[in-house]
Amino acid sequence: MLDYYTFNLPTRIEFGIGKIARLIDYISELNGSRIMLLTDAGLKEAGIVEKVTELLDQAEIYYVTFDEIKPNPRDYDCMTAYELAKKEEVDLLIGLGGGSCMDTAKAVGTLLTHGGTIKDWYGLNNLQQSITPLICIPTTAGTGSEITFFSVITDSETKLKMNILDNKLAPKIAILDPELTVTLPPSVTASTGMDALTHAIEAYTCTVAEPITDALALYAIDLIVNNLESAVHNGTNLEARKNMLIGSLIAGIAFGNSDVGGVHCMAEALGGLYDTPHGVANSMILPYVFEYNIPSNIEKHMMVSKLLGVNVEGKSKEEIAYAGVEKLTKLAEGIGIPKMKDLSYVKQVDFDYLAEGATQNVSASSNPRKASKEDYILLFEKAFHGN
Ligand SMILES: [Fe+2]
Repeated sequence: MLDYYTFNLPTRIEFGIGKIARLIDYISELNGSRIMLLTDAGLKEAGIVEKVTELLDQAEIYYVTFDEIKPNPRDYDCMTAYELAKKEEVDLLIGLGGGSCMDTAKAVGTLLTHGGTIKDWYGLNNLQQSITPLICIPTTAGTGSEITFFSVITDSETKLKMNILDNKLAPKIAILDPELTVTLPPSVTASTGMDALTHAIEAYTCTVAEPITDALALYAIDLIVNNLESAVHNGTNLEARKNMLIGSLIAGIAFGNSDVGGVHCMAEALGGLYDTPHGVANSMILPYVFEYNIPSNIEKHMMVSKLLGVNVEGKSKEEIAYAGVEKLTKLAEGIGIPKMKDLSYVKQVDFDYLAEGATQNVSASSNPRKASKEDYILLFEKAFHGN
């Protein structure tokens, strides 16, 4: 736990059912006249993109749509979107979708204001000025990217996930409208929800946690644990959708100001190599890193386990903490997340490379228990064999 820290929340949050209707007011406020909407083909098919473009058409605002964003966005896709944005002289970006769309929008905003290639801006605090004004509209309750100062981009050469980390990446406004998440399919609701839960748990247990992020993380864990199953199994339950969106937002504020840890280090290595959806990768790894980290802080892991629903009667603090491991496994099973060994493309011969990637991750030093490459290999083995 840190004794000295800075807490940042530069993004204004506009939350509520039907909030999307106010989009044009926010665009005017930010003096946007030439808009680029960054989204994906699935959202277009689901009619979510139309909800935004209808508003832009009615207000006769000029816009271009880039809807080619794929999960685990690549550096070259960011460059393609940037070239279009530059040609169109875009002055405001809208990231509509999950983390991939919002992270790509942040990358394009960086390139519009800084030039160069995306590789020039990887790393911590390398930006010289704020990026192009950005409005983020999440359609998943997952990444928290609408509020974080990170953009995670997959390097196509190394197949490693790279990060731009800078407060200057922060979106100006985040519009969170729970209605935009009701059509999200169960599998995506499940995986993105487990990503949000991982953010909250890692924000709370990592080495750079502080009291404010602890408070936020605990509340986020509680909200997510109590609403994720309903949101997956009954997608039209607006109350569950609303609580998941608040949970993922608060988890995003928490880990944006503290960090994530070993789960994300391993999951990002996996996603970089195999394109595994980020939330699925996190969910498959979470119980094993949670178990590995328990000796670093029994109290904190006990607190998480209590929120996960562990029956505490007659148990020591340590027993309560370790009982959380099974709760995490069961939660993932109950919402249909596959196990690592079910993914035919995951090969044990790759664990050496994946473990090396995990140790090189920007968040590796934030994991509460030191983990060497050999430790990460063992954790990949455990996650693969399920014991
Ligand atoms: Fe994540």
